[in-house]
Amino acid sequence: MAADTISFARGAPSLDIVDVEGLRDAAARAFDADPGGMTGYGTAVGYVPLREWIAEHHGVDVSNVIVTNGSMQADAFLFDALVETGDAVVVERPTYDRTLLSLRNRGADVRMVELEPDGIDVNGLGTLLQDGLKPKLAHIIPNFQNPAGYTLSRTKRDGLLELAREHDFVVFEDDPYVALRFAGQKLPTMLSLDDGDHVVYASSFSKTVCPGIRVGYLVGSAELIARVNKLAVGAYISPNMVAQAIVHQFALSGALDRSIETVKQALSERVKTLGEALRRELPDARFVEPEGGYFMWVTLPEGTDVGALFTAAADRGVQFVKGTDFLLEGGNNTLRLAYSGVTTDQIDEGVKRLAEAYRAVTGEPAAV
Ligand SMILES: Cc1ncc(COP(=O)(O)O)c(C=O)c1O
Repeated sequence: MAADTISFARGAPSLDIVDVEGLRDAAARAFDADPGGMTGYGTAVGYVPLREWIAEHHGVDVSNVIVTNGSMQADAFLFDALVETGDAVVVERPTYDRTLLSLRNRGADVRMVELEPDGIDVNGLGTLLQDGLKPKLAHIIPNFQNPAGYTLSRTKRDGLLELAREHDFVVFEDDPYVALRFAGQKLPTMLSLDDGDHVVYASSFSKTVCPGIRVGYLVGSAELIARVNKLAVGAYISPNMVAQAIVHQFALSGALDRSIETVKQALSERVKTLGEALRRELPDARFVEPEGGYFMWVTLPEGTDVGALFTAAADRGVQFVKGTDFLLEGGNNTLRLAYSGVTTDQIDEGVKRLAEAYRAVTGEPAAV
């Protein structure tokens, strides 16, 4: 790897948008405020004051919440609780590669439904359901989707819930990016729109505090949370109390809100720079500028070999994730660019190198 490699690959923040000082202060306050609570095993539901904070944030009862070591852990518990070998599970096409892997490892019958710029093709899903598909779950990343950056419209949120009610499946609303909206109108969660038990919701502090803190959570019916709690006890007795107590203090002091503002500001500048750079350097690239989150999905002309582009880009010190990693088949002309971990200068330079790699692969002459 070149020393000055520019990575559009990792869905993680650059250090300049992590409030290290604020975290240090929150840790000190946590150790002062509740040394016994945060150094003991605690309970599998998570650090009680943070669980209460999350319940209040979502307007639900504490019995509806379990706090886990990152939302990946919440996903894993949920899949263990609900998904058995051969169960049909609907996911977006494309979707988060780790979800795909996690479901396939559990032997799920994964059904991808096309993701459009305003979210999953609800009509297409409706047709599959009418034709007899009986999914246990539909995994949906509603805001600034990973990998596409697209957001599910209000109309489609309502439409999905209607299908879930009609066909009795659970919508798994996987929402780690919700707080990172830097443009457009905020939309209600499906969790808040649901009048039954058709939504299970997961979110995380990875994108608003930092990923290393590993604190995420699940919101669902008390019965489901109790089942997940049993799995959590068996897996690890309890999650990381120290980390959760720090997040709690970070949230109480207002540092969380400030951190979210810092992150949104940076992401908004970065996405603007990325869009301009792509239009300037790589006019063949098609993309929708996201209204929040970390990711932009780029489609190159049909016939582009993203594997060759990946190698040519790596040779020039630039990394991205191939679109094919987020799909079961197809997507050979697509890629995911993460702008969360790169500065605007790096974005300009990285896109220049990417465009050079593209020209090397396609044999196109440089623009003059
Ligand atoms: C859609 C989605 N779900 C879950 C996760 C996992 O997040 P966490 O760091 O909370 O485990 C990610 C992380 O990138 C994600 O993009």
